[in-house]
Amino acid sequence: KKRTFSGIQPSGDIHLGNYLGAIRNWVRTQTEYDNIYCIVDLHAITLPIDPQELHQNIRRLAAIYLACGLDTRYCKLFVQSHVRQHAEASWILGCFTPMGWLNRMTQFKAKAGENQETVGAGIYMYPVLMACDILLYQTHLVPVGEDQRQHLELTRDLAQRFNHLYQQEVFTIPEPLIREVGARIMSLTDPTQKMSKTNPNPNSRINLLDDPKTIKQKIARATTDSLRLIRFDPERPGINNLLTIYEALTERSRQEIEAEFEGKGYGELKARLTEVVVATLEPIQRRYQEYMRDPAELEAILRAGADAVRPIAEATLQRMKDVIGLG
Ligand code: TYM
Repeated sequence: KKRTFSGIQPSGDIHLGNYLGAIRNWVRTQTEYDNIYCIVDLHAITLPIDPQELHQNIRRLAAIYLACGLDTRYCKLFVQSHVRQHAEASWILGCFTPMGWLNRMTQFKAKAGENQETVGAGIYMYPVLMACDILLYQTHLVPVGEDQRQHLELTRDLAQRFNHLYQQEVFTIPEPLIREVGARIMSLTDPTQKMSKTNPNPNSRINLLDDPKTIKQKIARATTDSLRLIRFDPERPGINNLLTIYEALTERSRQEIEAEFEGKGYGELKARLTEVVVATLEPIQRRYQEYMRDPAELEAILRAGADAVRPIAEATLQRMKDVIGLG
C-alpha cells in the first residue's frame, strides 16, 4: 500500500476549509492507503500562542480527527512533538536548504508580513520542518489543500537534491494529492482571501464546532454581489465560494446546482447551504463531544500512534546521518 502523510496545526479553530481541503479526503481514502496523520504542534509555535490554548487545541484536534471519521485501524494518529526525530531531522535538512529557496516561499512572506525583523526564525524554517514530516515516513502521497502546493514542491526539491548529493535513495519523492473540489475554500467576509484559522474576523470562517445558529448568521452575512444570478463564476468570488461549498458538500454537478437555483434568490441559496452545512457538522459535533469526554482514551490513541511511527522516522533519520557521516 502507498503511504499517505498529512497534518494540521493546532493553532486555532478548525474550519470548513480544513475539512473540505484535507480531513474529509483523508477519511475517504483511508482504507486504500497506509496512513499517518499528525497534529503538527511544533509548527503551531512558529507564531505566538498561549500555552494553555495550545495544550487544549492538541486534544481538541485529536478529537476532531476521530469525530470526522479517521479510524485507528487504518490511520496512525500522533502529535509531532512526541516524535523527537522531526526536530532533529529538521536541523539536518535545514543545513542542506538554500536560503534562496526559503526566501521564495509565499506563505513566509504573508505570515511574517511587515515584521520580518521581529518574527521568530521558526516561521522561516517552517517549510523545512514540514518537509521532514513528510520525508521521514517515506511518504508517497500528501493530501492537502491548494495552499500547501508550494511547500510540497520545496519538499520534493529538497528530497531530490539530498538523494542526488549522496547518490542514494534516502528519501521517497512524495506527490501532492489535491482534489479538484474543496481545495481552496475562501473567506466568507472577503472571498478573495482563503478561509483561515488566523483571520481575526470570526465571521470569515465556519468552524467545525459552530452551532446551527452561528452557522446561519455567518452564512447570512457572507459577502455576495448585486447581480442576483446564481452561477459558478470565478469573476464573482462571493457567490462562487458559496456555490463551491455547496458543491463539495452535496457532491452534485455544477449544472444540477445551477438548475436547482434557476430563478431563485441569494436568500434561497444561503438557506439551503445552511441546511447542508448544519447536517454535515451535526454528527461530527456529536462524536466530538463523546471523544472529549474521555481524555484518557485520546491520550492512549496518541501515545500508540507515536509509538507506532517513531521507528519509521528513526530509520530514515539514521540513514540521513549515515550518508552524511554523522554518528
Ligand atoms: P494548516 O493547518 O494551515 O491547514 C491544514 C490543512 O487544511 C488545508 N486548508 C484548506 N483547504 C481548503 N481551503 C482552505 N481555505 C484551507 N485552509 C487550510 C491545508 O491545505 C492543509 O491541508 N503546513 C501545513 C501543516 C503541515 C503539513 C505537514 C501538511 C505541517 N507538516 C506535512 C502536510 C504534510 C499547514 O499549515 O496546514
